Amino acid sequence: MEQYRLFINGNFVDSATGKTFESIDPGTEVPIATVAQAGTEDAEAAIAAARTAFNSGVWSGLTPAARMAKIQDFADQISQQGLRLAATECMDSGQILKLAGFAPLMGISLFRNLSLAAATKFPWHEEIPASGNAFAPGREFIRREPIGVCVGIIPWNFPLSMAFWKMGPALIMGNTIVLKPASVTPLTALILAEAAKAAGIPDGVVNVITGPGGELGQVLCTHPDVDKIAFTGSTEVGREIMRMASSTVKKVTLELGGKSANIILDDADMELAVEGACFGTFFHQGQICESGTRVLVSSKIYDEFLEKMKKRAEAFRIGYQMDPASHMGPLVSKEQLATVERYVKIGKDEGADLITGGKRVEVPGITGGYYYAPTIFANVNNKMRLAQEEIFGPVVCVIKYDSDEEAVAIANDSIYGLGGGVFSSNTARAERVAGGVHTGTMWINNYHVFADYCPFGGYKQSGVGRELGLAGLHEYTQVKRVHVNAMADAKSNMTFQLMSDYKQVDSFGYNCPTNVVAGHGILASIAKAVVDLGCKRAFILTDPGVRQAGLAQLAENALADFFVGIFDKIPSDPDLESVDAATEAARQANADCIVSVGGGSVMDAAKAVCVILKNGGKANDHLNLLVLTESQTPHIAIPTTSGTGSEVTNVSVLTSKGAGRKLFVVDQRIMPNAAILDPRFTMTLPKGLTVTTAMDAMTHAIEALTSTMANPICDGMAMQAIRMINKNLPLVAADGKNEKARLNMQIAATMAGWAFTVAQVGLAHAMAHTVGALHHVPHGVACGIVLPKVMRYNVDYAVEKLALVAHALDVDVAKMKERNAALAAADAVEALMKKVDHPMRLQDVGVSEENLAICAFHAIADSAALFNARPVSDPNEVFEVYKQAY
Ligand SMILES: NC(=O)c1ccc[n+]([C@@H]2O[C@H](COP(=O)([O-])OP(=O)(O)OC[C@H]3O[C@@H](n4cnc5c(N)ncnc54)[C@H](O)[C@@H]3O)[C@@H](O)[C@H]2O)c1
Repeated sequence: MEQYRLFINGNFVDSATGKTFESIDPGTEVPIATVAQAGTEDAEAAIAAARTAFNSGVWSGLTPAARMAKIQDFADQISQQGLRLAATECMDSGQILKLAGFAPLMGISLFRNLSLAAATKFPWHEEIPASGNAFAPGREFIRREPIGVCVGIIPWNFPLSMAFWKMGPALIMGNTIVLKPASVTPLTALILAEAAKAAGIPDGVVNVITGPGGELGQVLCTHPDVDKIAFTGSTEVGREIMRMASSTVKKVTLELGGKSANIILDDADMELAVEGACFGTFFHQGQICESGTRVLVSSKIYDEFLEKMKKRAEAFRIGYQMDPASHMGPLVSKEQLATVERYVKIGKDEGADLITGGKRVEVPGITGGYYYAPTIFANVNNKMRLAQEEIFGPVVCVIKYDSDEEAVAIANDSIYGLGGGVFSSNTARAERVAGGVHTGTMWINNYHVFADYCPFGGYKQSGVGRELGLAGLHEYTQVKRVHVNAMADAKSNMTFQLMSDYKQVDSFGYNCPTNVVAGHGILASIAKAVVDLGCKRAFILTDPGVRQAGLAQLAENALADFFVGIFDKIPSDPDLESVDAATEAARQANADCIVSVGGGSVMDAAKAVCVILKNGGKANDHLNLLVLTESQTPHIAIPTTSGTGSEVTNVSVLTSKGAGRKLFVVDQRIMPNAAILDPRFTMTLPKGLTVTTAMDAMTHAIEALTSTMANPICDGMAMQAIRMINKNLPLVAADGKNEKARLNMQIAATMAGWAFTVAQVGLAHAMAHTVGALHHVPHGVACGIVLPKVMRYNVDYAVEKLALVAHALDVDVAKMKERNAALAAADAVEALMKKVDHPMRLQDVGVSEENLAICAFHAIADSAALFNARPVSDPNEVFEVYKQAY
């Protein structure tokens, strides 16, 4: 009789106690080999070997491609052992020869396919180009790393295949393994160990120990050096393994029991369905976890189906597993035979109709062997134990149903969810039924087919995790996220600031991707801008006022043949719905670039339209921070107000009715590609709008200067913008046709826009957004009214910067103390506003006093407030500022 020994740390060894046990051929009940019986000490030695090998990096440290090369050597060695593996598997487990012959071939394919996938397709390393965290800029990536020491505990029904399933992915992903086969079928795993050794898999990477599940399982599942357990077996033992693994919180994947439904629809091909139902249940004597042991048959075809299934079941040849003529061999063990007999009795007692089988079979010429006839119970109620409990033998329940819905409901009435089938001549109908069943695998017009790239695993109490496919490989890795701070300076770290009094962010990035052209008649360059962007079909977005002023027509004329359409219904402070409508119009026109002609409202809408055209969906899907990874639909902006500067900003402000406030798309990639500052577009702007939109730009500049993100480049932009607005606003207010002053206002607004794109804004914006969303106060109006009040609120937190503002506003600060100069800046802003007839109080623009408190609550939650010079966290303080502005 052959003798098999444990495989630990690259050596075949006897067990520490010297104990052995016999493995029996279930077809004859004759012992075929003696096997070393491992105990606690051997399990610990195997774990120690696996731990040492893992930690040494001899395997885990190889590249996936280098491991693939070794796995290929391993596969070659398995090929050389193919015949021996098949014959031994057949003798040891009772698998018929035809089935056992497949196992080595499938294992070799699995090793080769999955190691190739790991080397070429698996995302070991992933850069995350857009992290979505605006406050922690830096490089973000994911590393996937091996888990460590894996334990594979496998069952007796497919000893060799299960060894492949556990060993392959664990090794391919860089782990080491201790494999424990079932004690009734220990042999082929040990032959695999021989192949591993012959292939030069480093010592300790593969270990195989054979022996009693109870004692070994206890060590393997609780040992602190084991990182992961992959178990295939019964749900009952799976629960126990999970419980044991919990003491050291190991990763577990469990492939457990099933009571899968094979649903035969009334339109199924009868021969195919009968064959599928029999194969799905009686293959390998029914000892398969995903077997379709509940055959659900439409009442329309039930009688005919049952008769044919009975006939087919009775035709299977039951014989010795090594006999090539046998369709079915023995059950694996005496115990399993007893379980099957017990359930057949239960079925009869429960009142199910035994149609065929229900008895042992004697094979001529053989004494002994655990042979059992294919057994069909009809008229089974799904509530019976026969239909609810896993038997793991050639026993099937046939259950009648009346509608597809009822079939799905019966299928789902189970604690399990592992496999299942649908037989139908209508694929669409079969897919609908398959979609309704809560299970890990559904076969349509087939059963029991596996594929290396297709994951297998259970819903509900059928398991945890998946095997095979990329999903299966993921189960053998850990995910490590690595963040590399781009601003490695204590004072610039916005997260650390949560626990620090230093609120200024000193480091900064500056990037201005918009190509700005400015000057009288510069509109003429638009056609070239379209060509430079590689576009041909320009679509104009505008609003009714701008169109009425003839400005859209100016742009259309200049675009000439490139013009493909116009949408002119963008409202002030655009909402998501108007953005969606504009997008739809641009889609209809097959636009490949957007030309926005208008103020901040039109440009903000256009930025969002460009994102939706590129990425699909609706505006509400894209209210995100920093998530875009490629260029958006090209956008050329032509500003028509004297102020917003949003032609060069990275933000689109949109009113969300759902959120009841203004929300943002913020991303560098939404900055327009080009901005055309042609003063002819602002000459028609009425005085009121000239003044209020200019104060929006002033607010940008002052808030950028005082914000926590302020930096010297943006400061320079902001200071120049303040000077130019201070000088030119009175000129354009007095004479809207002063072209030079109009152009200067546009340039100033653009600089202010650039400044705040990097430096951000502050509380004045947060307050203006709020009264805009809740009271429809135009943005520029609200900004202007609250700006001086916010400057005073901030004075002790931005005294130096505000003193600079005073200087830029031509205040004579020479003899003033810095704080007084800072306060004088606020006075100068108010004086400028009065000079140009800007509204001075919220009560004059439709805000009611009783709503101020609620506005304060909203304003502190507006993200602009995050960057305010003075930390904003108390709504009462903001309420006070609102009251001053009231
Ligand atoms: N994304 C950003 O960086 C940014 C910056 C500031 C403001 N905004 C947003 O912009 C919006 C405010 O934009 P806005 O202040 O430019 O006003 P707007 O775009 O809402 O336009 C206001 C009105 O002015 C009219 N108009 C514009 N130009 C005209 C012209 N030349 N002749 C005659 N009428 C003209 C329009 O028809 C409209 O009725 C707000 O929603 C605000 O949140 C965005």
